Amino acid sequence: MTVKPRIGIIGTGYVGLVSGACFADLDFQVSCLDVVSEKVELINKAIPPIFENGLKELLLSVVTERKLLAATLNRQEMFDNSDLLFICLPTPSSEDGSIDLSFIENETKELAKLLKESKDYKTFVVKSTVIPGTTSGVVRKTLEEISGKIAGQDFGLAMNPEFLMEGLAISNFTKPDRIVIGAVDDTSFEHVKQLYTSFDCEILKTTTSEAEMIKYATNSFLATKVSFINEIANISEGLGINVGQVARGIGLDDRISPRFLRAGVGFGGSCFPKDVKALYAVSKQLNVESQVLKAALQANELQPQRAVDLLAQMTEIKGKVIALLGLAFKPETDDMREAPSIRISQRLHDMGATVRGYDPIAKETAQRSIPFITHCGSIQEAINGADGVIIVTEWNEFVELKPQDFSDMRTKVIVDGRRIYNPEVFTGSGFKIKIIGQ
Ligand code: UGA
Repeated sequence: MTVKPRIGIIGTGYVGLVSGACFADLDFQVSCLDVVSEKVELINKAIPPIFENGLKELLLSVVTERKLLAATLNRQEMFDNSDLLFICLPTPSSEDGSIDLSFIENETKELAKLLKESKDYKTFVVKSTVIPGTTSGVVRKTLEEISGKIAGQDFGLAMNPEFLMEGLAISNFTKPDRIVIGAVDDTSFEHVKQLYTSFDCEILKTTTSEAEMIKYATNSFLATKVSFINEIANISEGLGINVGQVARGIGLDDRISPRFLRAGVGFGGSCFPKDVKALYAVSKQLNVESQVLKAALQANELQPQRAVDLLAQMTEIKGKVIALLGLAFKPETDDMREAPSIRISQRLHDMGATVRGYDPIAKETAQRSIPFITHCGSIQEAINGADGVIIVTEWNEFVELKPQDFSDMRTKVIVDGRRIYNPEVFTGSGFKIKIIGQ
């Protein structure tokens, strides 16, 4: 029986922790490194430090029952216990939209020092989303210069992007559309590939820069698709056309596909806005400024405003109480990064409204992101006595609401920013309602 390689995960954010837990579930021994002691303690107690569907149960299995995953603050310990080391650190946006690689650079220096002293063959794998050229550039250079060793000869180096959607990360990991492995040599490629032998999908072998670009281009394409359908929605509205039918009609074209064609108040999260901005910044640096990416970003900045405009068409906003249902950037997460609710709240606040917000799980994160609104503990607390409601995030508990659930509003005005309601049901009960793209 061949010995299974051991995996090190550096950074236990949602990509690192989900990947680590899923690898452990495939019976790989996994050691997770983080610098935050609270996170390490929680993981070792099988408590997820982030909200992700199914992660609690998975940690219980791989940490507590099967003892396949453990977290540590000790880099040497993680290094000694790993044959492949996945770098899963954050790559935030700098002021100008370009990515800040400082976490990756600093960590690579530390890993290179350990590599210098090590007699074992290690393969380093970048999983973070990084601009094309990062793995073969700064990561390779740092590892080689400090360790005195050579990539593709003394150690392995690869780039293996993730395509995990928050909320669906575990099922995305276990049932991927494809696996992309960019490697500096065949040995590095084979080392990473052996982790995925049980997967039933194409494994694409690329250069490290191609793998990095595949990740950026995927997110940019999907984000552009969302901005595209949002603009079609805005045009459709003016023509009395239901964009839902349009999305259905175009999505049936095999070349387009029905996914990422849900019109709404814009895309958010930690990935789409950041990655499109970063790729756009690269295009500018290369003097080939991308007009498409620029437009996708601009359209997305304007889209939250659309919900406020629709509200203003039905009611005065100044001095009124407006309730937002859903604050997280999408359902099944408490992530508030770049959430459209932030722009919508700001706009309403600037227009003189008193803004209330309710989200099933994002209350704490939302309190930090939008401190100037009233955060409510229930749907009813948010909407009772309100003069208008905007559906910002399509949580299931909002989809199920009926007109009678809104009967204690002071004025019966609703904007459905996520297209979850049938307007006729509401107009029949005396509501004024506008649906984005309808
Ligand atoms: C996204 C990608 O989908 C993942 O493949 C990728 O791995 C991840 O970024 C990343 O780079 O780590 P995520 O940010 O979790 O995943 O969110 P999505 O589910 O893709 O949604 C992004 C935004 O687009 C959300 O605000 C969502 O509401 C919006 N969206 C999505 C729409 O408005 N309409 C759609 O039809 C689809």
